[in-house]
Amino acid sequence: MKLTLTRPTLAQKAQALAFRQEFFDCGETVINGSELLDQTGSYEEWLAAVTANASPETVSPDWVVTDTFFALDEAGRVVGIIDYRHTLNGFLKDLGHCGYSVRPTERGKGYATEMLRLLLEHARSMGAAELRLSVERGNAPSIGTILRNGGRYVRSFLFAGEEADSYAITLREGTTMTNQALVDLAFTMLERSYVPYSHFPVGAALLCADGTVFTGCNVENAAFGSTICAERTALVKAVSEGHRDDFIRLAVVGNSADYCWPCGACRQMLYEFAPNLTLLVARKDREFVELPLSELLPHGFGPKSLD
Ligand code: THU
Repeated sequence: MKLTLTRPTLAQKAQALAFRQEFFDCGETVINGSELLDQTGSYEEWLAAVTANASPETVSPDWVVTDTFFALDEAGRVVGIIDYRHTLNGFLKDLGHCGYSVRPTERGKGYATEMLRLLLEHARSMGAAELRLSVERGNAPSIGTILRNGGRYVRSFLFAGEEADSYAITLREGTTMTNQALVDLAFTMLERSYVPYSHFPVGAALLCADGTVFTGCNVENAAFGSTICAERTALVKAVSEGHRDDFIRLAVVGNSADYCWPCGACRQMLYEFAPNLTLLVARKDREFVELPLSELLPHGFGPKSLD
């Protein structure tokens, strides 16, 4: 089977509307991955939005940069639609980077699996290390699509009252450190800590989407308030090297019996760049918990709050 993913064009208007109508005729009102093709008033309007949202310069302020593709069969017929959201905001936290649909008359042919495979290639070529996506518990064909593309179960959540599961697909094997390796690296930073006043060393390791890791430790000061925490050291190192919205995971470790929870100032600084960050918080026996920043800082104040 040969499918290609192409960005929508005006020339595809008639095809796209027929594609959409087929879902409606089958009683399906939601077309996953279609960036609201199912709700738009006109194809031209939808095309303009999809085109604008594909570029960081023109993306709608309440949207994340998103690539939307039609899947074409060998005859050039639109058989499916799939999107790739470059980052995850609060709304997309559970939904993930990607949604897709195959038109009702073309199902059961393996098209979704191939579409997702092609999309993973695209995301990989953009430097992404991992892709998250989610599926309703009862949607067996889509679960198969994800598993066949290497998806591993991450966690469950409720979506519109329905049980749904989130999966992760690793795109850069070898460059993405395991959680344990990231925590271990953060522990090596304890000895770099400069803590003559508190004697409380903290280490951090921040993983970026391209596999780069920035480490940090706390650096204290005789004027105590000038102290910088380990997490902010790592973050500021990363930002000053050009990283912005590609932070994946941060390990924070200490020498205390309890977990080394990030302070409020660090939560706030992290929220600015990575509201969807995953934290690995460890205690001295190297036990760690994995949790989203949104749990440590709900209703955070960020750049969008100023709009
Ligand atoms: N510290 C961190 O490095 N990270 C945190 O999130 C909590 C506190 C440091 C700052 C200071 O050097 C010492 O721990 C005691 O507050």
